[in-house]
Amino acid sequence: MLEKDIQEILFTEEQLKKRVEELARQIENDYAEKEVMFIGILRGSFVFLADLCRAVDLPCTLDFMSVSSYGTGTTSSGQIQIIKDLSEDITGRHVIVVEDILDSGNTLHYLLNILEHRHPASVRLCALLDKPERRVKPVELHYCGFSIPDAFVVGYGLDYAERYRSLPYVGILKPEVYGG
Ligand code: PRP
Repeated sequence: MLEKDIQEILFTEEQLKKRVEELARQIENDYAEKEVMFIGILRGSFVFLADLCRAVDLPCTLDFMSVSSYGTGTTSSGQIQIIKDLSEDITGRHVIVVEDILDSGNTLHYLLNILEHRHPASVRLCALLDKPERRVKPVELHYCGFSIPDAFVVGYGLDYAERYRSLPYVGILKPEVYGG
């Protein structure tokens, strides 16, 4: 039903699963003997985070934050606001911020800065998708699922106008759907 709006599948369920497993092994190696605190940035990260945290064989805790970045359009405004803050204190914790996509960098540049000021033991960023050519603000990405070109992608948590998040794959939306 949603498939009719998809121009092309970029990453299948199998490809996503394989890459999540690879990222999980990397995280396990980097954080051996440590407890990780995954921070999911709502809402797009929820599918990736659910798969990633189950693939990582380490003690971990989970928390969530919600920030506004995009308005109603398709590019981030640079106006960032915390809608929901963390429930937990991150002081002394090994934090991994989990995102679905790193685009202009506006959101993560701001967010990582806020988190650094809360004195965690460490902060790293893990994003399933990266659009490097769109970067406006510098952001260090420690764990990157896939670098992608500047296309409008949906699925596996990513939305257009809150739809398509439930697609099990990542696909490129047909331009006529968003008036492109
Ligand atoms: C997306 C994504 C990041 C941000 C990245 O969230 O999850 O938070 O945009 O864009 P940037 O690098 O240009 O700042 P979005 O605002 O679409 O909200 P959502 O996660 O609820 O879909």
